[in-house]
Amino acid sequence: MLDIRYELTQNKKEKPDESALGFGKYYTDHMFIVDHTEGQGWHDARIVPYQPLALDPAAMVLHYAMESFEGMKAYRLPDGSVQLFRPDRNAERMQNTNHRMCLPSLSTEDFIQAVKALVKTDEDWVPHQEGTSLYIRPFVIATEPHLGVRPSATHQFIIICSPVGAYYSTGINPVKIFVEDEYTRACPGGTGFTKCGGNYAASLISQVKAHDLGYEQTLWLDGVEHKYVEEVGSMNCFFKIDGTVYTAPCVGTVLPGVTRMSCIELLKKWGIPVSEERLPVADVMKASKEGKLEEVFGTGTAAVISPVGELRYEGDVAYINDGKIGEITHKLYDTLTGIQWGKIPDDMGWTVKV
Ligand code: COI
Repeated sequence: MLDIRYELTQNKKEKPDESALGFGKYYTDHMFIVDHTEGQGWHDARIVPYQPLALDPAAMVLHYAMESFEGMKAYRLPDGSVQLFRPDRNAERMQNTNHRMCLPSLSTEDFIQAVKALVKTDEDWVPHQEGTSLYIRPFVIATEPHLGVRPSATHQFIIICSPVGAYYSTGINPVKIFVEDEYTRACPGGTGFTKCGGNYAASLISQVKAHDLGYEQTLWLDGVEHKYVEEVGSMNCFFKIDGTVYTAPCVGTVLPGVTRMSCIELLKKWGIPVSEERLPVADVMKASKEGKLEEVFGTGTAAVISPVGELRYEGDVAYINDGKIGEITHKLYDTLTGIQWGKIPDDMGWTVKV
């Protein structure tokens, strides 16, 4: 259990217009910080006014990307209260990331306590409008000033919060995806399953390429054969082909998304066949030509459920469901967001009150 000290601001910021939040543009009044020192563990947990960090220019995070992060959300319910969605899964995923990156982790209990304490403090920042939420970004950084390559002796675990609307400017309308056949996101034994900033930094060149070609995002193929579909830049990806829903297996190169996991659980509950076998991109394009590629959608905390309307692979283009959101995509979106915003009963036991 963390002993949290509170230093609250007297200068609260003006709240942004809820109908134009976008993603990651505004930050709440406070942030959570706890320090970690080798041999001493976690200490000095505090909630302080949102402010710039004071970091030594030699801090290891700045040189060797020694950091990890999470993405989760708090939702405003019809009765005005606020809830989280499966925060234990984010805590566990961050522990797995930190293990791979030689960073220290909070226990699941302390992680959830810190998230709840910050959200409670800035509860008036959880937006009310339909489709909005408070995005929560916990992260760990290596703070020791040292230029030799080795694990850091000091770290900080920090949480910031941002009121958000839709991640994509297209909203719930289908996004266009470019299949990357030149660059690689992840290889076996690497960091593909982690949420570390380096994975995202290394993906940008492909995102720029996709944008230049008129596509919103990149779909990554496996790093060994460039043959099997893995994940999209900011979300996991699902393909409904001839009645079965396929998604890439989480075998070390794919991020184990909390939304991904929740969709698989819902699909299984509804009796829809789900396959986590590796799926060749050539099979996806072939299914499209044969009229069997019924739906494609991405899942993620930021992206929620995003239908995909077009896939481009090596000059070949697959158009999906006439650019409209598919039936299963729609049902997953309605069910998941219904549970998250407290509009339908949570019979899966996924939500946690703040
Ligand atoms: C999330 O969905 O929470 C993510 O972390 C994706 C992101 C990099 C915006």
